[in-house]
Amino acid sequence: MEYLELQKKIRKLLKERNAVLLAHYYQRDEIQEIADIQGDSLALSIEAARTDADIIVFAGVLFMAESASIISPDKTVLIPRLDAGCSLADMITVSQLKRAREENPDASVVTYVNSSAEIKAESDICCTSANALRVVNSLKDAKKVLMVPDGNLARYTSRFTDKEIIPWDGYCSVHHFVTPEEIRRMKDKYPRAKFAAHPECAPQVLDMADFVGSTSGIIRFARETDAEEIIVGTEIGIMYQLKKDNPEKRFISASDNLICHTMKYITLEDILNSLVEMKHVIKVPEEVRIPAKKALDRMLDVKG
Ligand code: 13P
Ligand code: SF4
Repeated sequence: MEYLELQKKIRKLLKERNAVLLAHYYQRDEIQEIADIQGDSLALSIEAARTDADIIVFAGVLFMAESASIISPDKTVLIPRLDAGCSLADMITVSQLKRAREENPDASVVTYVNSSAEIKAESDICCTSANALRVVNSLKDAKKVLMVPDGNLARYTSRFTDKEIIPWDGYCSVHHFVTPEEIRRMKDKYPRAKFAAHPECAPQVLDMADFVGSTSGIIRFARETDAEEIIVGTEIGIMYQLKKDNPEKRFISASDNLICHTMKYITLEDILNSLVEMKHVIKVPEEVRIPAKKALDRMLDVKG
């Protein structure tokens, strides 16, 4: 079936079922094109809670659909592919986190939203790449903070706080492997370009950036900067929104490897099947959902 036909069928079914389609900025262009809402990982879950739709179809990765289920337990949350996982979220297990807590009894645990519901449930508070520093500094009584699972985000945050940050050893297998050599080559080729990077990149890469921020932060930076060329240090799917917002600017990917393959497993066909067969339902059990929601709510209460 052609894209256009699939897109039309999906939009029709979404309406009939009172469903919304949420798409992360890394999704395939043809999916972002027909989404009701696009956004970064957390914004999508918050938007999901606001809608009066009965069904949420999440075109993202598993942890994002779980967050939607944690925040909106009365809605049916569907993910079109169960294998759309996140390598970073898989880099910590509950038993590892419990052990790390025992080894650092005086540390607070700050968990990046790129984590499973079970890990969130074992955490003091969650954070996103957009609010990590604010979240850490909001822990007034904590001198030590264990940040999981992304070591790069933890190390980046530690540059701007007096608290002792203990980084977990995890990383995103898409962002972590962008190299300073690649960036140097890009900068030589495009000397007038500014470089915007996601904090999941390695520290040596972040050192070379003109701007470091979440996907929504990079999108804002691209709108506001007067640079006409921008080297983009995050997943290639973000180009859809960047080009749409700034047709006159030139966007260059920092690496050919910036592709989140698991997110891109999801196709238009999968979304259509998901709506026809009402699969795959993501439902976080209450004993996990309640403590996980507490960690997410605590993050949402952090002002600024
Ligand atoms: P954002 O929260 O910045 O959208 O990042 C999500 C993500 O998975 C980055 O790799
Ligand atoms: Fe996870 Fe990395 Fe994909 Fe983001 S880009 S969803 S952190 S694997």
